[in-house]
Amino acid sequence: MLRYGMIGCGQIAQAHAAAFRFLTDDGVAELVAVADPDPEGIERVAQIAGTVRHRFADGHELIANPDVDVVVVVTPTRFHRDLILAVCDAGKPLFAEKPLAPNYAAVVEVVDAVSAAGIPAQVGFQSRFHPIMRHLHEAVADRRYGEPMGYMIRDDQFWPTGAVVDGHTTWRSQASEAGGGALLEHSIHSCDIACWLFGPVRRVHAVTRSVFGYDVEDTAALTIEHESGVVGTLLTIFNGVQDREERRTELFFETGAVEATTDFIIGAPEDGLLVKGATGPATRIDPEELRRSTFAADGIDPDRELFVYQYLAHRAFASSLVAGTVPSPNCSDALEAHRLVEAAYRSAALGTPIAIADL
Ligand SMILES: NC(=O)c1ccc[n+]([C@@H]2O[C@H](COP(=O)([O-])OP(=O)(O)OC[C@H]3O[C@@H](n4cnc5c(N)ncnc54)[C@H](O)[C@@H]3O)[C@@H](O)[C@H]2O)c1
Repeated sequence: MLRYGMIGCGQIAQAHAAAFRFLTDDGVAELVAVADPDPEGIERVAQIAGTVRHRFADGHELIANPDVDVVVVVTPTRFHRDLILAVCDAGKPLFAEKPLAPNYAAVVEVVDAVSAAGIPAQVGFQSRFHPIMRHLHEAVADRRYGEPMGYMIRDDQFWPTGAVVDGHTTWRSQASEAGGGALLEHSIHSCDIACWLFGPVRRVHAVTRSVFGYDVEDTAALTIEHESGVVGTLLTIFNGVQDREERRTELFFETGAVEATTDFIIGAPEDGLLVKGATGPATRIDPEELRRSTFAADGIDPDRELFVYQYLAHRAFASSLVAGTVPSPNCSDALEAHRLVEAAYRSAALGTPIAIADL
């Protein structure tokens, strides 16, 4: 079994810990070490995973520990850079949460360091493992509705900061910690999906707002031109509507239109998929049937209650480590998404479209 160490034991680390519990049941991987200055966080994660043998206050000690084969970085974004550089120095495989860093210069530094170290690395864009997103990707790739023409993506979710929703930490509402708000912190997932579906971006025009008054944006609207010619829009919102974290993706092709709604938990009731071809009525594809057939095709028991897409992401990463293949989504993919975000922020600041080539 692959032996993992995870640095950061907060909110999303609990989803990673659940993923490792399932992977331990599979005989694939176990979470043997965790690091966090907060002992309560460590115990919460250790309880979920059930396999933790080493506990550290400092992530660098975890990276150096010989029992740790693979390192997972799940701290607040400000700490990712130093930890990822240390993982590169140690030459261990890396799973890093998105965003890679709060500012674009640090992102480029981290991506270059991972490449120079030659370590396998995957980034936490687990939305790619959603069966509905995979369905969209296949529809674009096999041109079943002809050429893709344009798209609209809308992300809206509650402000994940303690000042708006009890029980959350507060670093996300501070620019020095998070680097950005709804766009960087959350909708970098959608930027990744847009680049995954339609390829690299050529130019972006964006407007941002800060309605809640923090020094990061809670509203951003982007117009995106891809090198492939496809054009799209992305609207992202952090607001006070609790228990909501939804993405709406609408794709328009020469002979088809697809409307997808997705959430961040496996089997969420919000999930939906409607397809309209050139003629005839629109077809509603049952998301539960799609999930079951996708899981079965991947060799996953559809009746298993897996809850978290992090399981599928870590399962894919572990397979790539065993097979010696390049992990996906990796740091090159993350760089494309970060380029889109950075161009959007510069566009919003300058009030003019920004070409990716000019970053
Ligand atoms: N892929 C996703 O969908 C997703 C979802 C949520 C969060 N994230 C990302 O995961 C990261 C963590 O987010 P979160 O919601 O768990 O945050 P959080 O604030 O809930 O938890 C962060 C944890 O890291 C610990 N920590 C702080 N500094 C540390 C350090 N130097 N070393 C070790 N531990 C440290 C804190 O004590 C806390 O327990 C962020 O980068 C966030 O953007 C990704």
